[in-house]
Amino acid sequence: MRRHAHAAPAETASRLPAGFRLGVSTSAYQIEGAAREDGRGTSIWDTFVRRPGTVRDSGTGEVAIDHYHRLEEDLDHVAELGVSDYRFSIAWPRVVPAGRGTANGAGLDFYDRVVDGLLARGVRPVPTLYHWDLPQPLEDAGGWMGRDVAYAFAEYADVVARRLGDRVRDWITLNEMNVHTLYGYALTDHAPGRGLGLGALPSAHHQLLAHGLAVQALRSHDAGRVGIAAQHFPVEPASDDPADVEAAYLFSELTNWMFSDPILRGRYPSDELRGLLPCSDEQLDEDLRVISAPLDFYGVNYYEPTRVEAPRAGKDYSGVLEVDVPDGMPFSPVPYGAPEATDFGWSVVPGALTAILLELRDRYPALPPVIVTENGASFHDVVDPDGGVHDEPRVDFLRRHLGAVADAVEAGVDVTGYYCWSAFDNFEWAAGYGERFGLVHVDYATLERTRKDSWYWYRDLARAVRGAT
Ligand code: NOJ
Repeated sequence: MRRHAHAAPAETASRLPAGFRLGVSTSAYQIEGAAREDGRGTSIWDTFVRRPGTVRDSGTGEVAIDHYHRLEEDLDHVAELGVSDYRFSIAWPRVVPAGRGTANGAGLDFYDRVVDGLLARGVRPVPTLYHWDLPQPLEDAGGWMGRDVAYAFAEYADVVARRLGDRVRDWITLNEMNVHTLYGYALTDHAPGRGLGLGALPSAHHQLLAHGLAVQALRSHDAGRVGIAAQHFPVEPASDDPADVEAAYLFSELTNWMFSDPILRGRYPSDELRGLLPCSDEQLDEDLRVISAPLDFYGVNYYEPTRVEAPRAGKDYSGVLEVDVPDGMPFSPVPYGAPEATDFGWSVVPGALTAILLELRDRYPALPPVIVTENGASFHDVVDPDGGVHDEPRVDFLRRHLGAVADAVEAGVDVTGYYCWSAFDNFEWAAGYGERFGLVHVDYATLERTRKDSWYWYRDLARAVRGAT
């Protein structure tokens, strides 16, 4: 098999700090499959994908990449990469099928195997407790719009910590609360597809509360290091027109700071926002105390920056982006329009990752060490007749984004790790199987795995990082 030569990773590695943790990320619904096996309950994604028109080409996670049945092979792909960390998620419906109440032993056994398999191969397990797959019975009772779900989440965190806490020392509570709120509750692009517009804000507060309560649960088990994975959208106004500047400010407040301010400085970014939340002032203050408990690391997921304008009268925004923003919203994201884009159409702007890391450092004096818990790109890779997958654009993307991390480190930000999204091609939510983010290619007809050129490059990088740091 022919492989393309790429700029040596040694230079990238030499700019990263000592002990830097290189890893890869996945999530349960996107890879596991086995959606009806061993007592797993139904999640909101199982329900959502059955609704016509929700997912490109009617894809579902029923089989996904069949990771549940191919665990050992997949862990070999991760371990042979030489990374120090593997971030995966635990499916709440597999562990507590009804969302609350009786735990499912077979579900816990599976995650035991994941953890033991990683440790046996010298890779550190970093589970995420929630990556958008809410048990359907909890959604039926109101989902994240109700406060109860936060307490159910803490009980589930307790169950998992009891089983895995003796071996897992690094935990992520929730993944991308902002994207879940925006796409799942404000819009209709992701499960549960509620389309509530600004009425979705309670779902944000309840996820934040769930995070805080889960931190308490994990601490009560002395479970090790605890953090969160937060998507940050670097936001720019479409022009310097004050209306656009105001719209961009508001968009950033609602999609970035409304999530990170409560965690990292114990308050919401504005009083107007507080007014939109479903609690008394006293309750809110008490919740914020829980939400702002100190973390051991703060995870940042970054993909691309966003440009925002004040809605122009008479302009039709439908189809402008992958997501449709309902009429009457005070802002409208518009295409960023960078000269380079991935095959998913996402702008390639490595400097925006540096900018967000610096902004976090400047905004939060109490910012704990940062791990980039996701970054990566979809390219429509194919297996070449020579048997390889020659994904040079992904190598270039990863090299430049790691360079952007190194720039932030050199500017004094304490970044201690970087996890590539993703270890494997997988189910990309509403985009189905059409988008490929993996270092390992998956043929969905045969489920055969093929290491891409980027896998080999990342392996060489991991070696260089271990050698250099
Ligand atoms: C962030 C999400 O956490 C992950 O599930 C998704 O696949 C990637 N972004 C790419 O869209």
